[in-house]
Amino acid sequence: MAAFPQYRARRLRGSKLLRRIVRETHVTADDLIYPLFVTHADTAPITSMPGINRFSVDDLCREVEHIASLGIPGIILFGIPEEKDEVGSAGYAEDGIVPQAFRALKKAVGDSVLLMADVCMCEYTSHGHCGIIEGKDICNDRTLELLARASCVYAEAGADVLAPSDMMDGRVAAIRQELDVAGFADRPIMAYSAKYASGFYGPFREAADSAPQFGDRRTYQMDPPNRREALKEVALDVEEGADIIMVKPALPYLDIIRDVRESFDLPVAAYNVSGEYSMVKAAGANGWIDEDRVIAETLTSIKRAGADIILTYHAKEFVEKRLAEQ
Ligand code: PBG
Repeated sequence: MAAFPQYRARRLRGSKLLRRIVRETHVTADDLIYPLFVTHADTAPITSMPGINRFSVDDLCREVEHIASLGIPGIILFGIPEEKDEVGSAGYAEDGIVPQAFRALKKAVGDSVLLMADVCMCEYTSHGHCGIIEGKDICNDRTLELLARASCVYAEAGADVLAPSDMMDGRVAAIRQELDVAGFADRPIMAYSAKYASGFYGPFREAADSAPQFGDRRTYQMDPPNRREALKEVALDVEEGADIIMVKPALPYLDIIRDVRESFDLPVAAYNVSGEYSMVKAAGANGWIDEDRVIAETLTSIKRAGADIILTYHAKEFVEKRLAEQ
């Protein structure tokens, strides 16, 4: 390679068109999945996540029609039940809020957008943990059965993809086996494989009303400093039958996304979580950053790190603005 002054790196940055033809990473609607919250109650904004709502089933259907019209290929749904109990029954009830919503969505949008189900107990348990409690322990093996049951109920109601986010050991195998027995061998599992015990989930816990009532999630979610362990977690999920593997959160773990990308051939998803979203919104509202620019840069960094799929609360506004610019 020629050196300066023959080579001048600035030459290819000289105009918008030059920058366009040498650009290495492009984020498009195809890369994005939009997370949504559904409730039995009326639609209401989530204060800690400006621009994001908890939707009634009717309003959810309208919102997802709009998402499909933007060309965003999928949504992932979180339910807020009317009642919570020790064993999270509302999470696997056939008439629970999520199955209700999936049935209504299938009628409203058909197969025009992928309907993904987050599979976890924490929105449905009175104690807010992602599993069944025995004494002071989150009981891994008893939780598996309930996660598998919830997955089948969601699949029956119309979920196209099942996404377990609980971090219990063995859940991908348990869910795969039950789905296959129940006749849903065609439904992929997107596993939250390297999910860290993160402070960035703060706003989500207000949104889903799922903050743990005692202790924290450190006995099942990963310890943030660990890198090799993420590859081990992902390898286990791949062995158990995961079709898509996920790293979560995204921005503080771009190195992990890159490691996972380089070590596995499956599609890699990354979850740009609630805290990452709300920090951008708060700084934008204060005029401290150029919000649109920071959103584009954020999503680009996640894709550049190696993610094929980005779950992000910015999906709708990002695509709307892109379309308006054209
Ligand atoms: C459920 C779940 C959580 C998120 C996705 N699924 C919360 C948690 O683990 O505490 C976080 C999403 C976000 O912060 O945007 N287990």
